[in-house]
Amino acid sequence: MSSIKLVHAPMNQRQKNPMKQTDIDAILVVHRLAFGEAEGAEIAQLAKDFLNLPNTITISAERDGKIAGNVLFTPFVFKDCPDKKCYLLAPCGVSPKYQGRGVGKEIMETSISHLKSIGTDAVFVLGVPTFYPRYGFAQTDKQTPYPELLTMPEAWMALELSPGTVEKLSGQTTAVSPFMQSHWWDTSGRG
Ligand SMILES: CC(C)(COP(=O)(O)OP(=O)(O)OC[C@H]1O[C@@H](n2cnc3c(N)ncnc32)[C@H](O)[C@@H]1OP(=O)(O)O)[C@@H](O)C(=O)NCCC(=O)NCCS
Repeated sequence: MSSIKLVHAPMNQRQKNPMKQTDIDAILVVHRLAFGEAEGAEIAQLAKDFLNLPNTITISAERDGKIAGNVLFTPFVFKDCPDKKCYLLAPCGVSPKYQGRGVGKEIMETSISHLKSIGTDAVFVLGVPTFYPRYGFAQTDKQTPYPELLTMPEAWMALELSPGTVEKLSGQTTAVSPFMQSHWWDTSGRG
């Protein structure tokens, strides 16, 4: 049996339907396991920081009554276009036990449909260049917050949800505060 749940949306909706601590804990475990020994602890901490922010969107998929996969979206702002509604996708993880069984696909498809429904203009991700293009993401020439650290341009991708938006975006970009540390944007160690 599988089900998908939107665990929580931005704070105004969350106040009516607060997230349970058990769900938060389950999401952190998913990311810790998904990203393994090398990165898991740090990425779980990042997810925890994001979940404490008012405008984070979290989308999870369940398997066997438990959260098996989760993806978070945090606001991403272009200095020249502050009115555009953009999000950054990170992190996206599926528990190793459930990888390769369609959970990632479910959370990506559910997320895109939800983000469209709330009027999102575009979503950005610095990630695996073979995974995200399956869901419409394409390499973008827009800036990351640390453009000089982007040594793998194919890993920086955008998904346009409102037609014609991405080409109009310009200027410096800012992610939420926990994500504004340069090491998150340095792709030189990735392969
Ligand atoms: C990447 C990840 C989220 C995919 O989730 P998943 O549940 O294993 O993926 P699914 O089974 O739903 O597969 C969906 C599609 O993506 C493909 N896919 C899965 N993992 C992939 C990867 N790492 N790279 C490229 N394609 C991948 C599958 O083959 C499948 O393709 P298909 O639809 O043509 O059959 C998951 O494997 C994971 O958590 N990995 C570790 C953390 C990570 O790398 N996160 C992304 C970082 S940017």
